[in-house]
Amino acid sequence: MPTRAEGNAGSGKTVCVTGAAGYIASWLVKLLLSRGYDVHGTVRHLGEEKTGHLRRLENASENLRLFQADLLDYDAMAAAIVGCQGVFHVATPVPSGILTDPELQMLGPAVTGTTNVLKAASAADAERVVVVSSMVAVEINPKDWPQGKIRDESCWSDKEFCRSNESWYPVAKIAAEAAALEYGRATGLRVVTLNPALVFAPLLQPTINTSSQFLIYFLKGGPDETRDKLWHIVDVRDVADALLLLYEAPEATGRHICAPHFITARELLGLLKNMYPGYPCIAEESIRDMDHPAPMTSGKLEKLGWSSRPLRETITDTVEFCREAGFLEDGDGDDTPCRFPPLLNKV
Ligand SMILES: NC(=O)c1ccc[n+]([C@@H]2O[C@H](COP(=O)([O-])OP(=O)(O)OC[C@H]3O[C@@H](n4cnc5c(N)ncnc54)[C@H](OP(=O)(O)O)[C@@H]3O)[C@@H](O)[C@H]2O)c1
Repeated sequence: MPTRAEGNAGSGKTVCVTGAAGYIASWLVKLLLSRGYDVHGTVRHLGEEKTGHLRRLENASENLRLFQADLLDYDAMAAAIVGCQGVFHVATPVPSGILTDPELQMLGPAVTGTTNVLKAASAADAERVVVVSSMVAVEINPKDWPQGKIRDESCWSDKEFCRSNESWYPVAKIAAEAAALEYGRATGLRVVTLNPALVFAPLLQPTINTSSQFLIYFLKGGPDETRDKLWHIVDVRDVADALLLLYEAPEATGRHICAPHFITARELLGLLKNMYPGYPCIAEESIRDMDHPAPMTSGKLEKLGWSSRPLRETITDTVEFCREAGFLEDGDGDDTPCRFPPLLNKV
C-alpha cells in the first residue's frame, strides 16, 4: 500500500529534527530532504565526525541547516525550532552501558528535554510535534493488562515497576511520552507520539548505536546472558516513513505503536544460525527462559496507510551492512569480548 508520504509534499515547509545525527534521525533527515522539506537539525557536536554523513545527503547543501543544541539548553533548542512548521523530537540518550547518574545522564535530558522542545514548538507556533517514544513505554509489566490480551495504544508500561528495577531508560521514555501528550492536551499543541520496537537496518552514521549492537552480539557471541524475550522489531527506514506519515496525516492523534514483527530471542538465534552459518553466534544456553505475553499491534499506524518490510529483508540488509562496515570482525589483536548492551536486558 502506498504511504501518504510521497512526492514533494515538503516543498516550502521547514521542520526541525532533534538529535539529527543519531541512527533513526539520520534516516528521517534523509527522507525529509528527499521529499523537499527544509530541515533544521539539532546536534550536540557540529564536527565532521558527527555530521559529515548528514552534510553529504542529497539536497543537504541547500536544504539542511545544523544547529548546535543540547536538550537541556532551552534557548539553543528554540533557536533551531523558530521558523519551523513541524518538529520531530527524536533525541534521547540511548546509552549502551550502565548509568552512574540516572538523573543527569537519562531522566533530565529525556523529560526536561522533551518539555523544552514542546515549549519551543509552542513559541514557534508549530502546527505539529511528532515525539519518538518507544515500545518500552508500552509493554513492560503493564498494570491490569491480561497476559493474553494484544497490547495496543491504551497499554502503558508500569513506571514504578521500572523505577524499582532501576530500568532508567524505560522510566525516562514513559515519563517523557506522558508529559508530551499531557502538554498537548493542556496547551492545544498538536502532539503525536510513535512507539517503535527494537530498530535494525543499515546505519548512515559511522558509529554503532545501541540497538544495532543487539544483532552484532547475537552473531559474534560473547559472555553475557540474555533473556528469551518476545522481541518486536522494525526497520529504521519504516520508522522514518512512520514519523513522516504522522506529521503529514491530519487525522493522526495520540500514540502509535510501530512494531510489525515479533520473534523470541531463541527463534531469532535459530533464524540467524540458519541464514548465516559462518558466524559463531551466542550460545543457546546463554538465553534464560522468560514468559511471553501477547504481542503488540501496529494496527493503528497501518490504518493511516503505513506498511513495513518483511523481517528477513531487514535482517539481511543489517547483517550485510555490518559485514561490509567491519562491525562483525574481531579487532586486530583485540581480545575484548563483544558485549550485549545492558540496557537491552532491562527492557
Ligand atoms: N534504536 C531503537 O531500537 C529505538 C527503539 C525505540 C525508540 N527509540 C528512540 O529513538 C530515538 C533515537 O534513538 P536512536 O536509536 O537513533 O539512538 P541514537 O543514535 O543514540 O540517537 C540518540 C540521539 O539523541 C541525542 N542526544 C542524546 N542526549 C542528548 C542531549 N542531552 N541533548 C541533545 N541531544 C542528545 C544523541 O546525540 P549525540 O550523537 O550527540 O549523542 C543522538 O543524536 C530515541 O528517542 C530512542 O529512545 C530507539
